[in-house]
Amino acid sequence: WAQRLRYHSELGSTNDEALRLCEAGVAHGTVVLADHQTSGRGRRGAAWMSQSGAGLLFTLILRPQFEKQHWPRLALAAGCAIAQVLQELCGLPAEVKWPNDVLIDGKKCCGILVETRGDYAVVGIGINVTASPDGEESVALADLTPRAVSREALLRALLDRLSQSTLVCADHFPELVDQVAEMCYLTGKTIGFSANGESLSGRALGISEEGELLVEIDGYVRRFMQAELVRVIS
Ligand code: BTN
Repeated sequence: WAQRLRYHSELGSTNDEALRLCEAGVAHGTVVLADHQTSGRGRRGAAWMSQSGAGLLFTLILRPQFEKQHWPRLALAAGCAIAQVLQELCGLPAEVKWPNDVLIDGKKCCGILVETRGDYAVVGIGINVTASPDGEESVALADLTPRAVSREALLRALLDRLSQSTLVCADHFPELVDQVAEMCYLTGKTIGFSANGESLSGRALGISEEGELLVEIDGYVRRFMQAELVRVIS
């Protein structure tokens, strides 16, 4: 994929640029990378802030060759790939917070925003490398490791791993779920979240073969494919 890298020193949002490229019929595997975003976007319409050059900000453009109903798997696959690279390359105890954050010591170091356009899915990834936004439950890699982390090396390792994990989504997803299970931040915790407009709480038990979060609520195990505002209560 390296030859399909489109670098910009500054962009509004790499996801917006990626969505624009989808309309233009860009190739599968194209990557949009920026040093700085003036209007980076997070989930639920939130802004994604990062100081110029302090984050690794990129969007991977995919044309998944599997049914659309399985596209939500991409967020988990991306989280898994990122956590593994942070463990292996940076020696950090990264965990996946279902469905799409990567945490270290309970603090967010990476956010993932998957969006779709026709046959395309774009996977936007923001990693706090040398600094994280103030006043949030967030952390930068440089706060946690004395090893200098080069954004280039990180990007290379991530693209390599992402190309494998997004492929696995099609036919070998249970294997990916097994890997996520080993670094699932929520397992065993009492959590609150909202799903289908309902506010719920219960004990997270793990992740199903399909990538759903399993939560014990009032003695019953319920499965959630999507949820928002997931927070740990205890
Ligand atoms: C979240 O945690 O809410 C998701 C944050 C996703 C941020 C990344 S940074 C690169 C890409 N471009 C954007 O505008 N957003 C994503």
